[in-house]
Amino acid sequence: MNQKISPQNYNPDFLDDIQGNILQPHERNHARHLLISFGRKKKAEDSIHTWIQQLSQKISSCWQELSRSEDSLFCSLLLTQSGYRYLNLSMPADKAFQSGMVSRGSTLCDPNPSSWEPNYTQATIDALLIVAGNNPVDVAQEIVLIKENLLAAGGDVLVEEQGHRLVRSELDIEHFGFVDGISQPKHRSVSISKSTSPTLMTNPDVLLAPDGNGGYGSYFVFRKLEQNVKLWEENVQALAEQTKTSPFLTGAWAMGRFKDGTPVVEHEQMQFCSVPNNSFNYAKDSSGDICPFHAHMRKMNMRNNDPYPRIARRAMTFGLRPDLHPQGKMFSLPEKGVGLLFMCFQKNIEEGFEYLQCVANDPDAPLSGAGQDPLISQGNGQKVTNQWPTKYNDTTRIQYSFDRTVTLKGGEYFIAPSISCLKQVVK
Ligand code: HEM
Repeated sequence: MNQKISPQNYNPDFLDDIQGNILQPHERNHARHLLISFGRKKKAEDSIHTWIQQLSQKISSCWQELSRSEDSLFCSLLLTQSGYRYLNLSMPADKAFQSGMVSRGSTLCDPNPSSWEPNYTQATIDALLIVAGNNPVDVAQEIVLIKENLLAAGGDVLVEEQGHRLVRSELDIEHFGFVDGISQPKHRSVSISKSTSPTLMTNPDVLLAPDGNGGYGSYFVFRKLEQNVKLWEENVQALAEQTKTSPFLTGAWAMGRFKDGTPVVEHEQMQFCSVPNNSFNYAKDSSGDICPFHAHMRKMNMRNNDPYPRIARRAMTFGLRPDLHPQGKMFSLPEKGVGLLFMCFQKNIEEGFEYLQCVANDPDAPLSGAGQDPLISQGNGQKVTNQWPTKYNDTTRIQYSFDRTVTLKGGEYFIAPSISCLKQVVK
């Protein structure tokens, strides 16, 4: 989709019709994600159409989010292709969206959906509702109200996922302990016309696509990725023993950054910066002696000025970590029940998320012989065998097989349509 949005559109009216969280993250600490079936019951007290009409008044727009208060709730409604059909809306153009994630499984080398959490496949997913806030009680109360009305309208909640921000020293981390959310594919800031405040934001043209009904939205990928923290630590430890280096360095060779966010291509050790460096590239490491080509970050973005897919990552962690509590020494590292609710917006799913997942899976992408991504590549339980450095900035390599530590438990493709599109829904 190459249709350009004119910069004259970057004004309050246009942005008030775009859902929040697309052009800037909602940044709340807690969120509930409800995967919804509209149900096909005939004798519902009220209709799903009325439910959506009422809910559309609560949806947080991009414009509202720019001047939000700390304690405000965030609310968003996203639809699948099946939700679009149910509501008789005109289908947006994206082919992967129209097929749904399960149908794209062979392209993505995903595990068979029979191995996913059963609730993800028990019925067709029509929509995703996200309610987020800084106070978990406020979020829970709002969810109860919305759910009550949904059930009265004949709908059903298939899955409810709780996401939260995991924070260490004021920086967001994921469950393997790495600072996350530092680098987003480069977005150009643009000014908003007809606005009294000189607010700058992500360039809308990078992420927005027509929603099929006269407005603009953004395609959204949702994947529940479970992380086996114990196995990850065992892998980096075993590789450190074989190479006689440290697990901090071998972890950085797998991820591309040390746990504190320091890029391994820039430093041999953690620098503990309060704001991790993001203005670097791999020009000085053309043979992968410092940061392996298979490192997650390097696979996802070569940082060499080639055009690459622009996704806006909006992940949240799920699952509790009593072992990280100062008094939690008696708890062991989790093997299941924790992970990442991977979420991202893009203009085109095939050129965005799918391209990146295929690069992760392909040992010859984006360069011949790069190796598979040891973090997110899919591969039917087989280990990821790559050539690893044995020292920092050295040409020698050893072959080492990394266990797969991230497992897909369910997911779907959505679009966050314009708010006017949701308001158009009539019975
Ligand atoms: C459990 C799953 C995942 C974990 C733990 C994870 C973790 C990380 C971490 C720690 C970083 C570096 C921090 C940063 O620069 O923001 C990163 C970067 C990134 N990840 Fe992931 N990630 C996961 C899944 C994915 C998936 C599924 C994709 C896309 C298919 C993806 C795409 C990216 C991209 C595009 C970057 C930025 C690279 C750059 O611009 O240099 N990640 N990830």
